[in-house]
Amino acid sequence: MAYYLAVANRKGGVGKSTISVMLAHAFAVWGYKRVLLIDLDAQSNSSLILLGGSQWIETQRHSKNVAAFIEDRMYAMNPIADYIVQKAGDVTDAQGRVPQLSLLPGSLAFEDMQDELITHYSRHNTPFRQAKLKCANHFRQALGFAAPLADVVIMDCAPGLSNATAAALALAAKVVVPFRPDAVSEFAVDRIASIIEGKPYDDTMAIPPEQRRYICVANAVRPGGRDETIIDTIAFNHPTLASRVLQSPDIANAFDWSDERQTMEEKYGPSVGMLRALYDELLETLGADAAAPARKPA
Ligand SMILES: Nc1ncnc2c1ncn2[C@@H]1O[C@H](COP(=O)(O)OP(=O)(O)OP(=O)(O)O)[C@@H](O)[C@H]1O
Ligand SMILES: [Mg+2]
Repeated sequence: MAYYLAVANRKGGVGKSTISVMLAHAFAVWGYKRVLLIDLDAQSNSSLILLGGSQWIETQRHSKNVAAFIEDRMYAMNPIADYIVQKAGDVTDAQGRVPQLSLLPGSLAFEDMQDELITHYSRHNTPFRQAKLKCANHFRQALGFAAPLADVVIMDCAPGLSNATAAALALAAKVVVPFRPDAVSEFAVDRIASIIEGKPYDDTMAIPPEQRRYICVANAVRPGGRDETIIDTIAFNHPTLASRVLQSPDIANAFDWSDERQTMEEKYGPSVGMLRALYDELLETLGADAAAPARKPA
């Protein structure tokens, strides 16, 4: 069974897609896992990073994306595999082998599809709350069909709190919460923590940090000074990885699409060590469920 990981924060631009893609690369290349990234954002940023622009446009043309899959499941029973792109990304392992990284691409129609889903379940005077619950169930069940196809499923959530994000948060064994150390991030982390745990803030804080279902990651950090103070404050209240992702052009530039596959060292340049440390610490935090099984190529 796949280990489901959601990457979420209601706040936009904090690095959800960046960290989703970095973790997808890390699990697939260093962990030898079968990884499936599900892009739950209409912006489709992680899909663009993993496919490049022209391949992503092809997936839209052929309805090979998450919106088509979720919508089709209202009427048809096409297997999820029909909507997935295999061998996504432009990296190799150190021996030049292609990692087992696949993608259920995002779609510009994702928000419209969610409205249609609510309309579908609101038929026959169904009360709105009940329709919303049915919609969430539809999402959870649909995303659950990916379980046999991967060892690790990474769900890149959109900013905000859509039905799709709510379903991803419910399905995930662990939620990675990236934040940027800025003035409003503390409030954003408090809010998403409560949403993930399904409890008011004080009750959420009463759960021992190691038993909480989320782990925070400081991203785009500028070492020294104010950023450190904000990170310390957040880490005091929330489980937070000691590894940080620094603000670095290597990270932003790494996601330019390359027609030729590269090693992780070539892709991430001097930031590769930082990514490795983040991955190793996250694995330790997730424990045995996420660590096994490794499928090392012969
Ligand atoms: N550590 C970093 N160093 C440099 N640039 C970064 C870093 N992390 C993210 N960025 C840049 O910041 C921007 C926002 O990052 P990203 O798209 O990953 O955030 P997001 O949370 O997924 O955004 P959205 O809420 O819109 O989905 C991108 O242009 C990305 O390249
Ligand atoms: Mg994003």
